This record gives sequence, C-alpha cells and structure tokens, in this order.
Amino acid sequence: MTSLTELVPAPRGVVAGDGEVRLTERSRLYAGPGTEGAGHWLGAVLRQATGLPLREGRGPRDTAGGIGLALDPGLGPEAYRLVSDHDGVLIEGGDAAGAFRGAQTLRQLLGPDAYRRAPLGRDRARTVPHATIEDAPRFRWRGLMLDVARHFMPKEGVLRYLDLMAAHKLNVLHFHLTDDQGWRIEIERYPRLTEVGSWRARTKIGHRASPLWNDTPHGGHYTRDDIQEIVAYAAERHISVVPEIDVPGHSQAAIAAYPELGNTDVVDTASLTVWDTWGINPNVLTPTDTTLRFYEGVLEEVLELFPADATGPRGHSAFVHIGGDECPKDQWRASDTAQKRIAALGLADEDALQSWFTGHFAGWLAERGRRLIGWDEILQGGLPPGAAVSSWRGYGGGIAAARAGHDVVMCPEQHVYLDHRQDAGPEEPVPIGYVRTLEDVYRFEPVPAELTPEEAGRVLGTQANAWSEVTEDQARVDYQVFPRLAALAEVAWSALPAPAERDFADFERRMAAHYRRLDALGVAYRPPTGPLPWQRRPGVLGRPLDGPPPHR
Ligand code: ACM
Repeated sequence: MTSLTELVPAPRGVVAGDGEVRLTERSRLYAGPGTEGAGHWLGAVLRQATGLPLREGRGPRDTAGGIGLALDPGLGPEAYRLVSDHDGVLIEGGDAAGAFRGAQTLRQLLGPDAYRRAPLGRDRARTVPHATIEDAPRFRWRGLMLDVARHFMPKEGVLRYLDLMAAHKLNVLHFHLTDDQGWRIEIERYPRLTEVGSWRARTKIGHRASPLWNDTPHGGHYTRDDIQEIVAYAAERHISVVPEIDVPGHSQAAIAAYPELGNTDVVDTASLTVWDTWGINPNVLTPTDTTLRFYEGVLEEVLELFPADATGPRGHSAFVHIGGDECPKDQWRASDTAQKRIAALGLADEDALQSWFTGHFAGWLAERGRRLIGWDEILQGGLPPGAAVSSWRGYGGGIAAARAGHDVVMCPEQHVYLDHRQDAGPEEPVPIGYVRTLEDVYRFEPVPAELTPEEAGRVLGTQANAWSEVTEDQARVDYQVFPRLAALAEVAWSALPAPAERDFADFERRMAAHYRRLDALGVAYRPPTGPLPWQRRPGVLGRPLDGPPPHR
C-alpha cells in the first residue's frame, strides 16, 4: 500500500479515511457502461501484479473488497472521483478517460509492486487506504515529444513509453517521425522514403563538435501496421498520437530518397545521403508544385494511419504537426526556382515563402477536418486561423500566437527540453543545452503572466520534448526523461501555485515513493545522487556551458 500523501501527480483533493480495502480471491472487478476499456486495462495489470482472479462483478458495489468503475457525467473531461471504503473501491470518471486516470491512481495506491508483471507474494500490492479523492487535470494537453528520427526507437519502446506516459496521466504523444537523419514511417506510394531514408551509414557520437563516429549503420522504421498498433495502444490509454512530418526544413532524409524534393538548381541533391551528424541543415525542400503534391500524398497516408477520432479525450488527434522549425533560407535565396515562385506569388521574401508553404498545408488539412500545428517559426509571415503553435524558442512565440488567437502548446527549450543536461556537474552523460534540474522543471509555469485570461485560455497545455541526438538507446532516453517527466506531469495535471510557492520539498518526498514505482517499471532514471557509473559517457563530448547559448 502507498500512503495517500505519496501520489504523483498530486490530486486536487484527498480526504483520508481510517481503514483499508484488501483485495482477495473473492474481490470482483465491475466496469460499468463507458468504462469497459479502463476496466479491461485495470483488470489486466492487477491480475498480473497480484495473481488474483478479479472475476467480473455484476455491479459497482458487487462485493466488499471489490473494484467498481462507472461514469459520472457531472464530472469534467478526464476528471474522476475515487472512493475507497468498507464497500470496496469505486472509481467514477467524468468520461472514459477520467475512469482510466482514476484507475492509474488506484494502481499507485496499491504500492510499487502493482507496477510489476508478476506477483511477488501474497501480501503485496493488495491494499488500498480508505479515502475519497477528487481529481481533475489543469491542462487539456499534457504531452511528451519523442524524437524517433535521430535515433530510432523500436516499436516495443514506443509502446513502453505510452505505458509510462499513462502512468503519469499524460495524454499526448507528439511523434517526431521525420528529420534530416531518418524517415521512420512507411509511406506506401513512396517506398524509397524508408528504403533509402530510414537508415544512415554512420552516426556522430556526442555533440556535433565531437570527433567520434559510430560506424555501425543505424536505422529502422514503423510499418503501417506498427503505426496502427501504436495509435490503438495509445487510444486504449486515452493518449492522442500527434504525428510530425517536418517541412520544409529538417528534410534531408526525404531529399536523399527523392532528390527532386531538394533545390536541384543550387545543390547536387542526387549526391545527398541521410545525414549522419547534428545541427541545422541547409538542405531544405524546393517550393514547387511537385513538392506540394508529394507531401499531400504523404499526408493522405498519414491521415489514414492517424484518424482524427482515433484517440484521446480532447480532440487532439485532429492535429497533424508539420514541423516548420529551423528552415535556413540560403538555398531559396540562391535558387532561381524559389525566387521565381516568390515573384509569381507576389511575396515579400523567403520567410513569406515558408508562410505560403505552411498556409497551403493548413488549408489542405482543414479541408479534411484536421488542424495544423507547427513549431513557432510558422508564425513568421503570418499563420492561417485555426492553426496552432508549439512554442519552443522560449515563451515569445506562444505569447504572440495566443494574442493572435491561435492555440498554443508551451514547450520552451529553456525549461522542458529533456535532452538538456539535468545537472551542471562533470559526470552528466553527453551534456548539452541548459542545465535544468528536477526542481527547475517542477517550477516551470506554462502560462506566461503577461497573457490576459482570454489569451491564457489559448494555452492548451504543455509538453516535454526529448530530442535524441545524444540518446542512442532506451537507457539513455530513460535517463534524460526521468525523473523530470514526473515533474512535468505534475505541472501539467496538478493545481500548483505560482512557481516560487511550489513545495518542491514535498514533491521530493513523494518522489521517494515514485522512484520505487519507476524501479518496478524498469525505468533507468537519473538517481538524485547523480549518474550511476554505467550511465556516464566518459570521453564523449557534449557542449560546454561557457559557450554562447543555447549550448546545443
Ligand atoms: C526544435 O527544437 N528545433 C523545435
């Protein structure tokens, strides 16, 4: 059993009782109409962890010491009430997602062994303290971005991350599927995107200034079936998957596969290969009709694989992320084709050309009932109504977007880039970016003070971004993401006071219990005392802190 005061993220309200519910061989599990999915999930994990049969019950209060799930439409989206008393445990959700979030809280209350896949003993993971918990999320968008382009994360790893996200009540996986260093999603009509674009011959080890190379080829991609499995698995956990197909920058892998997508009048794109190092890449898409039609073809398949109604409680699965960040304009300035396009469209400059490009896809997606979201560079040159912005270069883009009436997801690199070092010490593995400790993330505030209440309402929420240039495998991703994702989850879910008033000491105390959950889940987090010997990367160059920001 876990104490009521050890929940992460912290619930809104807890009233403790003075007994406990004990699950036994006779305990039943009843999932009422609308909560069958949550019931199915809860039954599966608790049968594994406890070894109990948890037979199907006939009503929410079927057996003393049982578990019931039901809907209470009086509660809001994703909200729930959990009552544990002498009758058993009753979880009522405002919707199916709320029942699922409540089921996650029940798992926490059962103790860390409830996160294991087989029972450790008869008395473990079987008791729940008597209590009434009322809970609801602060933000509707609570996300994690996984960059599976720089280093591929095999499908099993993505499913595992969806479970980890669900355990933290997160509800959006922003899936960064394409970049200069790899194209990770099968597109039937363009097979070379994965035949050529999904692997590279070698890889820079460490920061781009590092002299080291890994000469083992790196690659991998998700088949259409893999993607559908990922989306369905996420849906079972009430998580929306927002795919990112990055245009018009970060596109060298696509250009390596289809050289006509590049600025062929400026560079010999036929000689380009999938990029093997890191940084901002000059090889961007050529702004031609051929490129537009090509990416419409890509997006047609993407829309099919990521249906708008597939996932999540909040309509987030309508979104398609088109990147839009870090698109150097040098090739467009030098390209006759690009300059002719600017003239023909009567545009002011190359920024306006990117805006035209973004606007094309915003309209194209809107015609199909979908919404465009992109990194904050898409604001340059104007953005069509309905499009949303991921504010990454600080708060500024998000503030401008909210004031212009656009929805915003706050993910400033100064605060929630989890690839960045989490301590200033010399032992951090391949340290890059800003130093952002667990406490720094805990004190991150997604809504800037200068917004009016109406503008603040356009901040859908927040997400952490886990870029993968320096995280080559699951253990490295775990190290960077945890424990800081637990802090981000609390920022996104819980009703925390202003940053300076947040009780970090209490969060740390609750984290002591949470580390036991992460241990049971097999998460290779950064221990509070610093990296374990095998979590260090001696000799691999990061980015010194005394250089100019942003130290990436
Ligand atoms: C980004 O970090 N380039 C969005």
